Amino acid sequence: KYEKLWLIFGVGSLILFLVILAIGAFYKEIHPPSHMDTIDPKNVQEHESFKEENLGLRQVGENEYIVNVLSSGFYYDLGKDENDKAVNTIRIPVGAKVLFQTTSTDVVHGFQIAGTNVNMMVEPGHISTLETVMQKPGTYTLLCNEYCGSGHHYMAATVEVF
Ligand code: CUA
Repeated sequence: KYEKLWLIFGVGSLILFLVILAIGAFYKEIHPPSHMDTIDPKNVQEHESFKEENLGLRQVGENEYIVNVLSSGFYYDLGKDENDKAVNTIRIPVGAKVLFQTTSTDVVHGFQIAGTNVNMMVEPGHISTLETVMQKPGTYTLLCNEYCGSGHHYMAATVEVF
């Protein structure tokens, strides 16, 4: 007699659990921790943030900057300097608020500025964004921490906070 009761209780709590899970997953739309917008990885430059002239460091306020980066094997595209050379170092004033925006044109890459709280996964089809304040002066390395192929180890750039 009691077995049947327990069985009902067991099945009942299982259903309840699944319902809660379903509500959590679909109704609240649980997202991965970093906010992401979608983008066509084949046409990244159609997106305003990743047009060639908008790549790299841009000042958008008194002490506010945006850094748009195209991540691809095995290179962070930070735009070109006035001599048309590829930029490999960005210089950010200490205390500045910086919004990093990046996307991948091919495979999954990492986007980590070693020694800071900047650490993102870069996926094709998504825009990874992270806002931070550069707190400590120094020379930091932006590097890829997701294995992405034979040139993975060369995928790096320099961030100077001064
Ligand atoms: Cu890109 Cu490893």
